[in-house]
Amino acid sequence: MNDTITTMHAHRSIRQYGPDPIPREHIEIAVRAGQSAATSSAVQAYTAIHVTDPDKLSELAELAGPQEKVEKCGAFFVVCADTRRHRLMCERANLPYESTLERFLVGVIDATLFAQNMTLALESMGYGTCYIGGLRNDLERVDRILDLPEGIYPLYGLCAGTKAQHPIARPRLPIESILHTNGYPSDEDTMNAVGSYDETYAQYLEDRGAPRASWSEAMVSKLSRRSREELADYFTRKGASLT
Ligand SMILES: Cc1cc2nc3c(=O)[nH]c(=O)nc-3n(C[C@H](O)[C@H](O)[C@H](O)COP(=O)(O)O)c2cc1C
Repeated sequence: MNDTITTMHAHRSIRQYGPDPIPREHIEIAVRAGQSAATSSAVQAYTAIHVTDPDKLSELAELAGPQEKVEKCGAFFVVCADTRRHRLMCERANLPYESTLERFLVGVIDATLFAQNMTLALESMGYGTCYIGGLRNDLERVDRILDLPEGIYPLYGLCAGTKAQHPIARPRLPIESILHTNGYPSDEDTMNAVGSYDETYAQYLEDRGAPRASWSEAMVSKLSRRSREELADYFTRKGASLT
């Protein structure tokens, strides 16, 4: 163990924050840490938008759920895959920007490595964080609120701030479910590992004071329904190629 790994293991999403904003200096340290993540061929296909305008925060909080923490946290960011500057460089060179699925994936992967490094840096400074996938409820509206042009793909939000709660850690799958050697296990082994985790997860919910449910039940209830089906059209309209 070392301090980095201890910080990683101490992660919990924080959903209630104290009123203090995060100083700009700390934000810049975290963004620099985000930028230090590996990036495919140095494309650096990401952008973080720090939203400080109370009206914009309130609209984003509402469309994300509502999720009050979006406007109550110390700093709220919208993490985007960014192909805008690549498009502009190609335009200046009088060459086309060739949009492909690979380039869209590179943007999503790069932005997510950036965001997680930034999150870890914030957590290492003692701040709480919570990603906000709820923004994908209405990305058209996110575009309008933040004036996001073609080639900028908002992916999720990130709340950060001083912690006003200390939740217990949400347990993860056993290591046998995640780490395999030389291939993928049989379906039987896969489901045996799920079975042991179901009990751990139900106990975690009970300890948290939430209704008891196994992980399988939670996943099946979520994944057997379609959701956010407009995303392919939206990202295509924003300039992505998904084929
Ligand atoms: C991309 C992404 C989007 C998320 N969106 C939300 C969200 O909209 N609201 C929320 O309260 N938590 C959100 N979360 C937090 C997850 O629910 C949380 O990470 C997960 O339940 C595991 O709990 P832990 O982070 O406390 O370990 C999101 C997490 C990720 C990675």
